[in-house]
Amino acid sequence: MGEPLLLEKAAPITEFNTPELHALIQDMRDTMAALSGAGLAAPQIGVSLRLVIFGGFDSPRYPDAASIPDTVLINPVLTPLDNEKDEAWEGCLSVPGMRGLVPRYTGLRYTGFDAMGIALDRTVQGFHARVVQHECDHLDGILYPMRIQDLRNFGYNEVLFPNLPVEPD
Ligand code: NI
Repeated sequence: MGEPLLLEKAAPITEFNTPELHALIQDMRDTMAALSGAGLAAPQIGVSLRLVIFGGFDSPRYPDAASIPDTVLINPVLTPLDNEKDEAWEGCLSVPGMRGLVPRYTGLRYTGFDAMGIALDRTVQGFHARVVQHECDHLDGILYPMRIQDLRNFGYNEVLFPNLPVEPD
């Protein structure tokens, strides 16, 4: 947080299945695994392109995440199912050591493309919908603290959740 590129609107990807794209995705996978993230957006590793990855892991940080398939999502379009939102605690690898209470749409349809350019179309709920909204916000220069309604619900992990083990973010 504080890096200007994280506040930019990222550019669409125009060519699929290229060595450069596969290398970028591998770099993102390695970074996400090393940091035990729920997902990662390309701008978080300094590449301002509309590409996010999420799911397909068993993270000690996110016990609810097991049901999210391993996903590469390019040029995403998000459409909330209705106006219903709920709040939950989020963290971000670009805002290490902190958590904030963030409202998100509870149900969501998302479309986009995978690394090969094959279309993706899913309708999801709950934690899956939350992760997609968080990651895709990175493509529009939005970090989760900008979505917190009441900044009293923002703080350090070890202060907010003293009984949990220190997490590696
Ligand atoms: Ni993030």
